[in-house]
Amino acid sequence: MNHPVHLSLIVAAGLAVGTRALAQGEHSLDLSALPEAGEVAPEDGLAAWDSIHTVLTHPRCLNCHVGAENVPLWGTPDAPDRVHGMAINAGDSRFGAETLSCNACHQTSTRANTMPHAAPHTGMDWRLAPAEFQWTDRTSAEICAQMRDPDRNGGRDAAGLLEHILHDAELIGFITWSFDPGVGRDPAPGSLQAHLEDMAIWTAAGMPCPA
Ligand code: HEC
Ligand code: HEC
Repeated sequence: MNHPVHLSLIVAAGLAVGTRALAQGEHSLDLSALPEAGEVAPEDGLAAWDSIHTVLTHPRCLNCHVGAENVPLWGTPDAPDRVHGMAINAGDSRFGAETLSCNACHQTSTRANTMPHAAPHTGMDWRLAPAEFQWTDRTSAEICAQMRDPDRNGGRDAAGLLEHILHDAELIGFITWSFDPGVGRDPAPGSLQAHLEDMAIWTAAGMPCPA
């Protein structure tokens, strides 16, 4: 990852994620070099957005961030549009409450994913992202606009978007898993740390979006 702003912007750990106090050891992310709001130029924020967009549109993330047809994907970099086998439909609940629960196969467990082609598991209950968080069939500008809109991102402001990543890291949730998905799956590009830094740079720059 190419970060134009760097260690000159050191702030105390926690400042950039709002008022919540994080005890050491809750997650292994390094918060010491995250920039503060207003300290990043818009063009650096846009460059960070490009890296973020590359992550979001990798199949590892996209497979759950699908639209209102509620069909999860088994996408790979070679075949990103492959739909989930066994006619799985997540329903409006997004976790299959109407038919077959995702949890019937995708257990909730922080154990490593060691079996190729087994249903992956994480520390969070497996489910699709809400339909308004759809990233499939969207341009970079469209995804950017919805991610900075609290009406379409789960009510999050800049601090909330960063906190979401830290919370995920604490639970070994979906984002954390996507960067370390286990045997037989390509990880999302980069690392969780680099993704956190890109999100911090983008939000500190005022969440600029491509035209
Ligand atoms: C009958 C068992 C079963 C059920 C129920 C099930 N899955 Fe799966 N799922 C699997 C298996 C097996 C895989 C791995 C397939 C492979 O790697 O070849 C998988 C993989 C996935 C993947 C791809 C992960 C990745 O990026 O590689 C997603 C997304 C997914 N499931 C979502 C869901 C959702 C959402 C539900 C509930 C609505 C659900 N699944 C219900 C068996 C199931
Ligand atoms: C197993 C399915 C799954 C995978 C894989 C997944 N997500 Fe999500 N995502 C969810 C769910 C469910 C929510 C809603 C939970 C919430 O808002 O707290 C969500 C919400 C989000 C949100 C907040 C809402 C928004 O759109 O702004 C972001 C950001 C996000 N995910 C990023 C990612 C990134 C980045 C990846 C890949 C590195 C990823 N997700 C992979 C299921 C998934």
